[in-house]
Amino acid sequence: MRLGMTHFGRWMAWAAAVAWLMPISLFANVSGSDYPMRRIADIFAPLSRPAEMIHDVAMVVIWITIGIFVVVTSLLIFIVIRFRKKADDDGSEPAQIYGSTNIELAWTVIPILITVVLILVTSRTIGEIQNHKLPENALQVRLVGHQWWWEIHYPELGVVTANELHVPVSDRDPSRSRPTRIELQSADVIHSFWVPQLAGKTDLVPNRTNETWIDPYEQGVYFGNCAEYCGTQHANMLLRVIVHSPEEFEKWVAAQKAPVPAPVTAEETKGEQLFYSTSCISCHSVDGTVAQGVFGPDLTKLMTRQTIGAGVAPLDDKNLWAWVKDPQQIKVGCLMPDMQLLDPEVTAIVAYLKTLK
Ligand code: CUA
Repeated sequence: MRLGMTHFGRWMAWAAAVAWLMPISLFANVSGSDYPMRRIADIFAPLSRPAEMIHDVAMVVIWITIGIFVVVTSLLIFIVIRFRKKADDDGSEPAQIYGSTNIELAWTVIPILITVVLILVTSRTIGEIQNHKLPENALQVRLVGHQWWWEIHYPELGVVTANELHVPVSDRDPSRSRPTRIELQSADVIHSFWVPQLAGKTDLVPNRTNETWIDPYEQGVYFGNCAEYCGTQHANMLLRVIVHSPEEFEKWVAAQKAPVPAPVTAEETKGEQLFYSTSCISCHSVDGTVAQGVFGPDLTKLMTRQTIGAGVAPLDDKNLWAWVKDPQQIKVGCLMPDMQLLDPEVTAIVAYLKTLK
């Protein structure tokens, strides 16, 4: 049989290529849920300048400590073998030596020098990251930590969202980079912003504004989390950073600012009435309505998010229903109580929430 691609094989290859490209063209969406998911928050694969600088200094520390480990372990093994009890040991004591100025100086001075080197390289990196001057075009974001979710503001764009930080892609080349400056505040206790592939940890401290910045080199969804114990659901205070191309980012901003369509069906209208007549609105906001609560996430564009409950579950009909029915079943201890709604009420409210896009 002749080797090479048959007509059918070639057709299959084309079909596979088209199928592979389809998600990009047909299903492109502003939530970024079709982007590559960098689920493993790999500190050894930095994709943003601050993370790269921290990675470099971490490698210096790791190699120095590996060197120390090798020297100490080799000496230990050598001594254990060299001075083990011999078969002809007569049980007498070896010569006793008390003190050696040279050896004591060596094992004091060398570790001090190593420590000073580590302090210097580390503080230089900290200084470089903190004092880095960002270009004029840097995107401005304010992140407020809550038990247990992230409030996200774009003061210059007039956009408010939660738990999913959308930013434009940046570039290694400073002339083409567009970094994001992030102001960090807390509404309650100390939290810590950490997206390992993008930047080191920075705390969100009550009554204080801290700052950090990221400049992701590649599009995708980067996973981060709160890195400071802040109560029961600390582990489920998850953060996604969705890095768009500049054009897709503008589309996302436009989608966030577009007015929310009014409810259409009877079910949606019933849900709207329920939403505004129960205590939902004392904690949640929906832009352009009387719902102006600030204790829970802004729901204006709820349906453009990938997850609910700060990343605790994917945002789909089933999870949304379960969340409205009783958030405590999904995120034990979260500050949204079981509202004791009847099942038809939950269904109506979910129908209304699904119009928020
Ligand atoms: Cu917020 Cu841990």
